[in-house]
Amino acid sequence: MRILTAVTLVLSAIFAHADDSFERSLEGKYIAVTGGAGEICSAIAKKFLEHGARFVILIDYNNEKGEEVKNRLNNEFGDGMVEFIHADVTKDLKKVVEQDVPKYGLADVLVNCAGILNEYDARSVMETNAVATIEWSDVMYELSRADKGGKGSTIINMSDMYAYNVDGYVPIYTAASAATTAYTKAKGHQMNYRHSKVRMFSIHPGFTETPMTAGQMEIAEKNDDFVKYSKSWAWQTSDEVADALMGLFPVAESGAAYTIDAGKYYESPALVYRSVEYIDNILQQ
Ligand SMILES: NC(=O)c1ccc[n+]([C@@H]2O[C@H](COP(=O)([O-])OP(=O)(O)OC[C@H]3O[C@@H](n4cnc5c(N)ncnc54)[C@H](O)[C@@H]3O)[C@@H](O)[C@H]2O)c1
Repeated sequence: MRILTAVTLVLSAIFAHADDSFERSLEGKYIAVTGGAGEICSAIAKKFLEHGARFVILIDYNNEKGEEVKNRLNNEFGDGMVEFIHADVTKDLKKVVEQDVPKYGLADVLVNCAGILNEYDARSVMETNAVATIEWSDVMYELSRADKGGKGSTIINMSDMYAYNVDGYVPIYTAASAATTAYTKAKGHQMNYRHSKVRMFSIHPGFTETPMTAGQMEIAEKNDDFVKYSKSWAWQTSDEVADALMGLFPVAESGAAYTIDAGKYYESPALVYRSVEYIDNILQQ
């Protein structure tokens, strides 16, 4: 009996390791990226292809840019490597599950990357950046969970360093980022991961040069101050964010939150509060 138990333990350790190593490997993965027509999200899609992804689906409501990115990536990586699904993440989840999942199969990795920044439209920001991310994660979790016949998956939820960095400039975007991060920490908790084998973590890029941040400069509270203040941060490119994510992917733990800043990743702090004195000091320089 003792020998049988020992053999069972050894075998389960071997298989647990084998499962884990597939999940953490970048090679041969089928990746779905919402917001895939956008700057950072398309850079992430491209990086996965460079690291051996077998198929990528871009999901976005921008038809023109989605087709453009799809064609560009197919030219670079080979015909049929990339598909584009036209969908609004706040409205079309049911359609994607009923029509596109049967057609293309279920992805190994879902990157919930679609997002907007608009400090004059709280409802749209919350629905896009937080509610849709939560709903898409919940559905992916149910469809792929290993304890209900699925094969597990990885879900990467795009958040922002504004999930924990409080400086008063973009309160609505801050709220949506914090909601996404809190949900990911709870749903991706090791207690859930150990039976579902759905690894879920959030990423929190710092300031990244994209059309979104170019627009951001026009809508922030105290716009001129914000432009000056934002220059004190280390800026990065979309490519650097995507590169750092490739380094993080094999080692990221479910339920964890990772900052990607100046092209490097590290575990995010829970809260960084920027005082008036801190901000004034930067503005007076
Ligand atoms: N740029 C930054 O400094 C920065 C920093 C941290 C996090 N982020 C996050 O990274 C993500 C990408 O940002 P970006 O700067 O590359 O902006 P972007 O505008 O280039 O990309 C966002 C993409 O999301 C798509 N999208 C928006 N709402 C959608 C919806 N309802 N349905 C489907 N698609 C939708 C847009 O069409 C666009 O293609 C966002 O979630 C953003 O919040 C950006």
